Amino acid sequence: GRHLVDPRDLQLTELDALFSLAEQIQKNQSHYRDLCRGQILATLFFEPSTRTRLSFEAAMLRLGGSCLGFAEPSSSSVAKGESLADTIRTVAAYADLIVMRNPKEGAALLASRYSSVPVVNAGDGGHHHPTQTLTDLLTIRQLRGTTEGLTIGFCGDLRFGRTVHSLAETLARYKNNKMVFISPPELRIPDYIKTGALAKNQIEYRETDRLEAVMGDLDVLYMTRVQRERFFNEEDYVRLKDFYILDNEKLKTAKKDLIILHPLPRVNEIAIEVDADPRAVYFAQAKYGMYVRMALIASLLGVASC
Ligand code: CP
Repeated sequence: GRHLVDPRDLQLTELDALFSLAEQIQKNQSHYRDLCRGQILATLFFEPSTRTRLSFEAAMLRLGGSCLGFAEPSSSSVAKGESLADTIRTVAAYADLIVMRNPKEGAALLASRYSSVPVVNAGDGGHHHPTQTLTDLLTIRQLRGTTEGLTIGFCGDLRFGRTVHSLAETLARYKNNKMVFISPPELRIPDYIKTGALAKNQIEYRETDRLEAVMGDLDVLYMTRVQRERFFNEEDYVRLKDFYILDNEKLKTAKKDLIILHPLPRVNEIAIEVDADPRAVYFAQAKYGMYVRMALIASLLGVASC
C-alpha cells in the first residue's frame, strides 16, 4: 500500500494536487460528505496531541467515515508489553488507514513495513511530521499565493522540532526559496538537513541567533516551541525555553505582508498580544490542517484522484 512516512514520499505534483483538492473540499464540503462512508480510520497516539489527532478524526468524520483508536498508550495492550509490529498487524485488520504518532524516530517507517493498509506518520520523535508540512504549505499557498520565491525564517528549537525538519526539506524542493534559521547555538537545525535537502537543492540559507536582525527580510516567520520532552535534562530546557518571545515590539521592523505561522501548541514563544495582529495566522493554519487531511485521507483510500 501507499504510506506517508516522510515528506519525500510525495512528489511536488502530488503535493500540489492535494492542495487543490483541499481547496475544493473547503469550498464545497457537502459534496464530499459521503466520500469515505464505510471506511475506518485508526488513530494510534503514543504521545499527546490536540490538533493532529482531532483534525484527522474530524476530517474522517466529515468525509462520512468512522474513527477508532487510542490517545493514551496505557489503555492499549502496549502497556502489557506488546510490540509495535504486533499492534500494527492487529489494527490493520480492523481499519482502512492508520495514523500514528510515536516518540521514537523511525517508528512510522517500521509500522509501514508491517501494515497491510496505508500508514501516516503523525510525528516520529524529533524526526518528521509530514502532515504538519501539508498544513503549513497549504497555509502559505492560501495566504501568500505561492510556495515559491519566499524568504522563510524558522525560529526556536530547530534541533528537536520535527515540523521544522519536514517543512524545510519540502520548501527546499520548491523554486527560489531562501531560508533563515534562527536559534540558540545548542538548538541549530541538524546537519542532515543542511547536507541533504538544502545542499541538493542549492538553497541559500543563513543561521543566526538574533531574530530582530533578520525580521525585516522575512516573508514567512515559522515560530516553534522548545521541545521539552526531547531534552536530556530540565536545566537546559529552563535555560533555553524563553530564548525567543515574539511580541509587538519585535514585529515593528517586519514586512506588512509577513505571515506568522506556528504549528502549535504555543507555550510562551508568542506573546498573546500578537494574536490580534492580522499577520498572525496560526489559528487559521490549524483549520487548514483539517482540509488538507481530508484530501490526504481521500487520496490514500483511493476515493479521490490526486
Ligand atoms: N501541530 C501539532 O502537531 O499539534 P498537536 O501536537 O496538538 O497534534
